[in-house]
Amino acid sequence: MATQAAKKTTLPRELIDFVDEWIEKPGNLIMILHKMQQVFGYIPRAEALELARYMDVPLAKIYGVITFYHYFKLKKPGKNKIQVCMGTACYLKGGQDLIDEIENLIGIGVNQTTDDDQFSMESVRCVGCCGLAPVVVLNDEVYGKLKKAGVAEVIAKHREA
Ligand code: FES
Repeated sequence: MATQAAKKTTLPRELIDFVDEWIEKPGNLIMILHKMQQVFGYIPRAEALELARYMDVPLAKIYGVITFYHYFKLKKPGKNKIQVCMGTACYLKGGQDLIDEIENLIGIGVNQTTDDDQFSMESVRCVGCCGLAPVVVLNDEVYGKLKKAGVAEVIAKHREA
């Protein structure tokens, strides 16, 4: 759209092209925020502010969407992404115990990142290997039938020296 395209912004071109394409469409904000998270890996505050300015929408509206949907991340994910499956099979076989143990070991809960940016944790729905429940996926490596006692070893394997 010409008026948007003429606006100056510090946002990356890939994102701006998407915003310009979606700006007049219904449900655009959520689509645009998905794109923003795809570009940055999360929704950085400074860029959310810039997006609000560029789209001429209140920042509170953007934060309303981000905080309503758990999918959106407000903090930069860690170098190592821990995904604990909380689909039905994993939930029944102790997925929550694994979350609690991870919290014990590295001090972060779901949707949090360690202060040194090494690890972040999220809970996910069925990852498709229910026969191995409970399952943790760490950087695309699947750890099945994981016991609480085995969590420390899995984390140590991925921790940078
Ligand atoms: S419920 Fe966890 S892999 Fe299916």
